[in-house]
Amino acid sequence: MTKRILITGGAGFIGNHLVRLFVNSYPEYQIYNLDKLTYAGNLENLKDVESKPNYHFIKGDITDKDEMQNIFKSHFFDAVIHLAAESHVDRSISGPDEFVLTNVVGTVNLLNAARTHWAGKMEGKLFYHVSTDEVYGSLGPKGAFTEFTAYDPRSPYSASKASSDHFVRAFHHTYGIPVVLSNCSNNYGSYQFPEKLIPLMIHNIKYEKPLPVYGKGLNVRDWLWVEDHARAIDTIFHKGKQGETYNIGGNNEWTNIDLVRRLCGIMDTKLGREAGTSEKLITYVQDRAGHDMRYAIDASKIKAELGWEPSIEFDKGFETTIDWYLEHSDWLNHVTSGAYLNYYSEQYADR
Ligand code: NAD
Ligand code: TYD
Repeated sequence: MTKRILITGGAGFIGNHLVRLFVNSYPEYQIYNLDKLTYAGNLENLKDVESKPNYHFIKGDITDKDEMQNIFKSHFFDAVIHLAAESHVDRSISGPDEFVLTNVVGTVNLLNAARTHWAGKMEGKLFYHVSTDEVYGSLGPKGAFTEFTAYDPRSPYSASKASSDHFVRAFHHTYGIPVVLSNCSNNYGSYQFPEKLIPLMIHNIKYEKPLPVYGKGLNVRDWLWVEDHARAIDTIFHKGKQGETYNIGGNNEWTNIDLVRRLCGIMDTKLGREAGTSEKLITYVQDRAGHDMRYAIDASKIKAELGWEPSIEFDKGFETTIDWYLEHSDWLNHVTSGAYLNYYSEQYADR
């Protein structure tokens, strides 16, 4: 069956993996990638699919309410998978306003556009909202977030995502929009912007720069391979129950310092450096304000109800990821130098 699917934020880290998966797995679907191309959006990530007949790019800004209404009016979408967001906690601490605008107002603009253009024909429609485990707050040494854990966001980023989750559920209950949500743990993998922990550390190890570990490095994150997240979204999109929320996690907890040490060891071997060389670059820096101590996801619902679980062992995914960044130094250099920002104007000048 032909479906016209709007994916927002498809030029970002998780979005490009999801767009690639859908474009390649479902040639019968038309995939519309709507992205503003902020600093985090990079169309170079999608070079391998840009000429496929079922892929379309729309440069658009979800914070522009009229633009969203017009795009919905002209495209007759059957479904939305909404990923576009400001996603970096540290940026949300230095400038929360952009997070409210993009993550809250942007989401409401999309919901309103769906409400207007799906009115009286909700059958077969779906608004899938992609969210984060950070909405649940911070855990002590034990336990894990379930779908019933009360929301307790503690950073401007997580507060904005929590608010957007609430609006998605409110539009479901109030206006009958068919929705589904997922809350996922930290992702790692190729094409992640090197402001986030793993690509930043890979870049700094490679160029022998200090490795900034916040506080004592004892905060814990549950890491999931990004392609497994994309697979989970595919599963939920096709098999999830309307109105439901699914937690997605890697069952793979690491303290930041253990993860960085592990990375240093692997990189020393790959770069032909003496064991212990890169660890010397570790530099403890001032902690992030309000730094959440621990995240862990109980992903038993998605496994029991939809049969999804991570496909790859962390050792393998981590090494594959490191190899990818080492083999794609052009990508990393373009991103760190800002050269990728020219790609859109060069590639799409006459479109
Ligand atoms: P990202 O920052 O890499 O990409 C975000 C994308 O959204 C970029 O392409 C950017 O250009 C686009 N965008 C930003 N503002 C926009 C606007 N106003 N209009 C249109 N497009 C805009 O983010 P990511 O890591 O890929 O995360 C994607 C989604 O998944 C986010 O909603 C995030 O909250 C969620 N999430 C991320 C993780 C993670 O570990 N990265 C984990 C769980 C959930
Ligand atoms: P990050 O990748 O920013 O993801 P999030 O804050 O959404 O979990 O950070 C992952 C962890 O690594 C988090 O505990 C903060 C820490 N961190 C550092 O210690 N140093 C850094 O330079 C960065 C970017 C993060």
